Amino acid sequence: MKDYSLFIKQTKGIVDPTLPIFTNLANVSAILNQMEDINWCGFYIVKNDELILGPFQGEVACTRIPKGKGVCGTSLEKKQTIIVDDVNKFKGHIACSTKSKSEIVVPIIKNNEVVALIDIDSPIYNRFTNKEKDFLSEVSIILKELF
Ligand code: SME
Repeated sequence: MKDYSLFIKQTKGIVDPTLPIFTNLANVSAILNQMEDINWCGFYIVKNDELILGPFQGEVACTRIPKGKGVCGTSLEKKQTIIVDDVNKFKGHIACSTKSKSEIVVPIIKNNEVVALIDIDSPIYNRFTNKEKDFLSEVSIILKELF
C-alpha cells in the first residue's frame, strides 16, 4: 500500500501558486497516478456551470460533462464526494473507458462553490474507501488555493 502522507508532502512541495493552474494540476495528476490499482486520474474544471477536462493521466476522456450527469456531474451538483464501488450500478455513469470498474470523485470547493473535481478510476471493483476520500480531500484543500 502506498503511503498517502508522502503524496501529501509531494503535493505541498510541488504546488506553486505563481504558476498557471494547469501546470500545477498536471504535476499533481502525476503524483496521484502513483496510487495503486487505478487506470485514470485527473481533473475536471468547472466553467459556465459544466465540467471541462483538465490535466490527467490515462486514456482519452470525455471533454465536457454537464452538471448532474454521470458521477462527476452529480458530485458537482451535490458538492459532495462520491465513491462508486461498481460503475455498472451507478445510473448514468459515463464510461470513458470500459476498463473502469470503480470510481471516486472529490470536489475542490472554494468559497462554498465547486471550482474543480478530482476524478480517479480503478480497473477493480470496490477500490476506494474513506482512506482515499480523506487523502483526496486533503489534496483538494491544498489545490483550492490555486483557484
Ligand atoms: N466516469 C465519469 C466520467 C469521467 S471519466 O471517468 C474520466 C462520470 O461518470 O462522470
